[in-house]
Amino acid sequence: MQLAKEESLRCRWITLDSPEVKEVDLIQGLKQTPKTLPCQYFYDDRGSALFEQICDLPEYYPTRTEQAILEKCALEIAQTTGTCELMELGSGSSRKTRLLLDAYQQLDRPLHYSPIDVSAGMLKTTALDLLHQYPTLRLSGLVGTYEQALAHLPESEIERRMLIFLGSTLGNLNEQECNDFLTQIQQALQPGDFFLLGVDLQKSIDIVEAAYNDAQGVTAEFNLNILRHLNDRFQGNFAIDQFVHLAFYNADRHQIEMHLLSLQTQVAVLRSLDYQVSLQAGETICTEISRKFHLPTLMSSLEEHTLKPLQVWTDPQNWFALLLCQRGQLH
Ligand code: AVI
Repeated sequence: MQLAKEESLRCRWITLDSPEVKEVDLIQGLKQTPKTLPCQYFYDDRGSALFEQICDLPEYYPTRTEQAILEKCALEIAQTTGTCELMELGSGSSRKTRLLLDAYQQLDRPLHYSPIDVSAGMLKTTALDLLHQYPTLRLSGLVGTYEQALAHLPESEIERRMLIFLGSTLGNLNEQECNDFLTQIQQALQPGDFFLLGVDLQKSIDIVEAAYNDAQGVTAEFNLNILRHLNDRFQGNFAIDQFVHLAFYNADRHQIEMHLLSLQTQVAVLRSLDYQVSLQAGETICTEISRKFHLPTLMSSLEEHTLKPLQVWTDPQNWFALLLCQRGQLH
């Protein structure tokens, strides 16, 4: 799909690329016991496409549950915030955000949207599609990580902002990272601005474990793709077929842990980083945690960051929650 001249006038691009920051994290993680990898490396273009497939899996309840909640409350969100620029962290295909855009459009509000994602390919394809679908939309695409984006949010054309963080991506941060992230959100917003957050809630273990061990093996492929991505990006030689996907619920920490288990003792090299990693047979690399939240605890933590929950919506089973928060004054 090509961008028509009129559409190109309605969009702009900013690339915030300093990948060396994450390369330090990458090596540090591989030096730890147990070994870890930053989950950001899941999302090359293939990984982003696999994640889109995960969202449609019958076992993966978070996407459709959050989508159903948004279908019910999008108009109420648009009415509460009034005109504002929607800035979405980790926008991917922006499939759920379209419900919000529809709501603002229905209320005759101007449409300003800034999708932010590390996958430039996914971001551009989505932007083209959105500019076609919404003829009055003004779009500012930002290629970068959340941290980079929050530290360098571009000037907005309109006064109010709403930062959007859906899909329970907050759960991929550990407690400390989560606190740092909320501090960054607090600092990026002005008093009166909004923060829309979607989170996965604690529920019975079998439902959660099934979501990360789907019968078709798409999640396994997504997990293994992190090694493929490292091979491509850093001239690596991880033997993909010598690892298997492992995902289980850690009940003490209320989190899913995804690992890659090494089937044999092996050495892999990341040539362009001049780094070599040794693995024992049976050793695992933790590639992701996915925390499941206790709503009252999360709400207190938001309040502590001057992000006041104005409204909370959940599904009938209480599996997932959507919180509309407003940034208050500093205490
Ligand atoms: C992006 N993130 C919220 C997903 C999750 O559920 O933690 C990533 C994912 N990993 C495996 N399946 C989905």
